[in-house]
Amino acid sequence: MGVIKISNLYKKNKELNVLENISITVQEGEFIAIVGPSGCGKSTLLKLIAGFEKPTTGDLEVFGHSVVGPNKQCMLVFQEHTLYPWRSVAENIALGPEIQRWAKSKRAKKVQDMLVAVGLEDFADYYPHQISGGMCQRASLARAFIMEPNILLLDEPFGALDALTRLELQEQLLRLWEGTKRSVVLITHDVEEAVFLADRILVMGSLPGRVIKEYHVDLARVRNRSGARFTELKEEILNSLIG
Ligand SMILES: Nc1ncnc2c1ncn2[C@@H]1O[C@H](COP(=O)(O)OP(=O)(O)OP(=O)(O)O)[C@@H](O)[C@H]1O
Ligand SMILES: [Mg+2]
Repeated sequence: MGVIKISNLYKKNKELNVLENISITVQEGEFIAIVGPSGCGKSTLLKLIAGFEKPTTGDLEVFGHSVVGPNKQCMLVFQEHTLYPWRSVAENIALGPEIQRWAKSKRAKKVQDMLVAVGLEDFADYYPHQISGGMCQRASLARAFIMEPNILLLDEPFGALDALTRLELQEQLLRLWEGTKRSVVLITHDVEEAVFLADRILVMGSLPGRVIKEYHVDLARVRNRSGARFTELKEEILNSLIG
């Protein structure tokens, strides 16, 4: 049984067929990446899984239950960080625990653990405008991971970052994920990022959005970006994207 089960899903936006006949099953602990051209419905798909939107037809289940609205199993991290500017880094990370009324001592300890995990322990009291974009994105990841969601939905989380910061954050994400073995669905424009991180890569085509190819990445982690199989897979996926 998959933790996410999407069967024959269609999504229309007014007259536009945004998604057509999508069937995807995500297993427990699996890291899935989705790549595809701009406008092919990737963000829409994540919003559907997160329960922010409803399918036009088809089935969508999370842990065996039909998705009818936002639920605690899924956390969505957006392309641009959505930290509150009036809260410090630590206070932003503590947001979910506060809402769920965790005991103060547990909250403080977990926030500290997360700060260390994403390398922001020296910036706990800084505000988002006082740190870099990459650091904000790390804080966003920490804010999502602290809640230990069973499913993490990442919509181009590193899209706005420079190449070097991207590489660093990919490794950080890998470490966070390996520590928890939650399921991840990552949207990215960056094929190398997908091959570096994912167990399985789905390639989407547009108009209407649909899954056109699927690749299993049978390489041990941490993956060597210049390895023969790595570059071969990357090339193959790029070609399937270009069509
Ligand atoms: N709120 C909306 N109202 C109407 N149409 C929308 C809305 N949101 C998205 N769309 C349409 O749905 C399609 C898919 O959009 P979506 O944002 O899911 O694409 P995407 O694959 O995430 O693109 P990108 O890679 O640029 O982020 C687009 O063609 C867009 O025009
Ligand atoms: Mg998008």
